[in-house]
Amino acid sequence: MQGTLSKLGLRHPLIVAPMAGGPSSPALVAASSAAGALGSIGAAYSSPPAIVEFAQAVRARTDCPFAINLFIQHPQPKIDAAALERARRATAGYRVELGLPTPEFAAPYEEDFDAQFEAVLRAKPAALSFVFGVLPAEHMRAARDAGMLIIGTATTPEEALALEESGVDAITLQGYEAGGHRGIFDPSAEDSEIGLEDLLAWSLGKVKVPLIAAGGIMTGSDIQAVLAKGASAVQMGTAFLKTAEAGTSAPYRAALEGTERKTRTTRAFSGRFARGVENRFMNEVDAAAVMPFPAQNKFTRDIRAASTAKGSPDFLSLWSGTGKGELWQGSASDLIARLFPA
Ligand SMILES: Cc1cc2nc3c(=O)[nH]c(=O)nc-3n(C[C@H](O)[C@H](O)[C@H](O)COP(=O)(O)O)c2cc1C
Repeated sequence: MQGTLSKLGLRHPLIVAPMAGGPSSPALVAASSAAGALGSIGAAYSSPPAIVEFAQAVRARTDCPFAINLFIQHPQPKIDAAALERARRATAGYRVELGLPTPEFAAPYEEDFDAQFEAVLRAKPAALSFVFGVLPAEHMRAARDAGMLIIGTATTPEEALALEESGVDAITLQGYEAGGHRGIFDPSAEDSEIGLEDLLAWSLGKVKVPLIAAGGIMTGSDIQAVLAKGASAVQMGTAFLKTAEAGTSAPYRAALEGTERKTRTTRAFSGRFARGVENRFMNEVDAAAVMPFPAQNKFTRDIRAASTAKGSPDFLSLWSGTGKGELWQGSASDLIARLFPA
């Protein structure tokens, strides 16, 4: 592993992606790290005490380094009554179907970033990774003083340059193939839709910090191919969704059955683009009735939770990348051993 990433002392150039909202369990993070990769806590939706507790649960299982991942926050969107009414009308039928009351809905729409960041400083992971922007300068300084390796995420050449300029140690290049939220800085921007290969080829000549390739990487040969093209490491999410340790729910696991998964990006669940397996909610909710992130994310939380409780994939965010093939259902350490045969 090249450059600053070697400080982590990983046996394999692999980051098991942070997967906020369930899949990243303490068991998955710890098993990934213990197997020589960098496990990542997806802490974006977690309260500060939950972040500290999660890190303790990982440390109870392994001494190996791990990362904590946050979402950079932007000014909270102003939601007017008409936008809320459109969103309520578009989802009213689902709430009836799921037996849910009309929700009370008010700001704040997400956890406070500064408080989450303080919790990360207390938890002291080996690495801090983030999406959706550049880490503010005072947080960069604090994370560096705490000895953390700092990893930003770019979906375009411009974002990669801005991250390098901000002083990050490494950059995850997230291709359009990737499962989960697109790391696009501007929450209201259209998606550049740049694939991993083009993003990597462009960045190699111009960005000096180590590059971590993400999006659609599923097998050992996929890994070797991007390393040969100049990536210092890979980040994989989808391939780990059905491992024994992942916190992926039963209906979510069932929706990932088979070798083909029809995915696309949508704003319907959270207000930000994210890639997942097509389902009813994604196909039926009118884009005009979707509020901006993170308001929409908070607004649909009860629907997603009730869908999981009912065992139905219809209203769940089934985040998944474009990668094909049956997903591994054994342990994460066995998957990592298969990805990096001795
Ligand atoms: C279920 C799921 C949840 C994700 N959650 C996060 C997250 O919380 N933070 C983040 O930086 N990336 C998140 N991602 C994106 C991954 O970091 C990574 O870009 C992606 O998994 C790579 O593509 P792949 O899924 O095809 O391997 C998530 C991906 C998935 C599949």
